[in-house]
Amino acid sequence: QLPQFVRMVEVGPRDGLQNEAGDVISTEIKLELIHRLADAGVPYIEAASFVSPKWVPQMGDAQAVMTGIQRKAGVTYAALTPNLKGLESAIACGVEEVAVFGAASEAFSQKNINCSIAESLERFAPVMELAKAHNIRVRGYVSCTLGCPYEGEVAPEKVAEVAKALYDMGCYEISLGDTVGVGTPLKAKAMVRAVSRHVPVDRLAAHFHDTYGQALANIYAVLEEGISVVDSSVGGLGGCPYAKGAAGNVASEDVLYMLQGLGIETGIDLDKLIATGQFITSSINRPNRSKVGLARCAD
Ligand code: HMG
Ligand code: MG
Repeated sequence: QLPQFVRMVEVGPRDGLQNEAGDVISTEIKLELIHRLADAGVPYIEAASFVSPKWVPQMGDAQAVMTGIQRKAGVTYAALTPNLKGLESAIACGVEEVAVFGAASEAFSQKNINCSIAESLERFAPVMELAKAHNIRVRGYVSCTLGCPYEGEVAPEKVAEVAKALYDMGCYEISLGDTVGVGTPLKAKAMVRAVSRHVPVDRLAAHFHDTYGQALANIYAVLEEGISVVDSSVGGLGGCPYAKGAAGNVASEDVLYMLQGLGIETGIDLDKLIATGQFITSSINRPNRSKVGLARCAD
């Protein structure tokens, strides 16, 4: 039983751009990307990340990005905030929704946020409290849900444990990240089933990277399990600085094309989304990794 509506969460401006080596992408280009996404009808845009600029230089202009957005009614503009310092900066910019990010693998947690899983949950507690006091909604990510670049296999029960901890802390939605893109459909289904024994499935989102070309198949598989929120990056931008070999997120255009073919509503205009993928990949001189984008642009 597939959902009738899928909420697409666009992570291109954050997950897509955070990993770009070389020159820092200008704030103007990021803002134009965000504005074009909103104009295409994207309801939720993860626009920036309040992390250490030493760790992730591309996100160093989070403040300028979040304050420079010309907000469109009905669109959520979110940012990552791994700790109180990040959340305080986000609050100063008037951010209305943030995300914390943990992992189901100890090694990845250390490499990504410099602490253990347990320590990360302790750090998130005051973030949740302060967010609540400011009426800011918090999304929670779990990374390495289908494998870890350092530890290999990750047990679905471990994913469920971290997802439940974030949910119990007050995250309204838990996004399950296949950070390295190693998952396959039946594994993805099994993982979602394990998590949904602890967190209601309508509170779960799917976040697939396409390193092994499995992302669309995995998305279809988890739609069958009841998930109806899907993260993606326009143009298939991205990767993860702490996950060697991780390719971009699944391309938003490709997800949208598949959803349209399945008769699932999203509220997004495919032609405008394709033009946005073309805009950002040509602006930063990267190949367009959306198959749909390539097919349509060749017309
Ligand atoms: P730390 O070094 O343990 O933190 O880093 P610290 O508190 O000891 O601070 C060290 C320095 O960082 C200090 O500066 C702080 O001020 C500064 P110094 O005194 O050395 O000049 N600092 C900050 N600066 C700006 N904003 C902040 C902030 N916090 C501390 N919020 C920390 C801990 C988490 C900050 C660090 O490890 C970090 O920034 N990591 C970045 C991780 C990251 O962005 N990863 C990518 C996003 S996650 C992802 O992509 C996965 C996802 O897509 C899902 C999936 O695919 O699985 C979400
Ligand atoms: Mg990611």
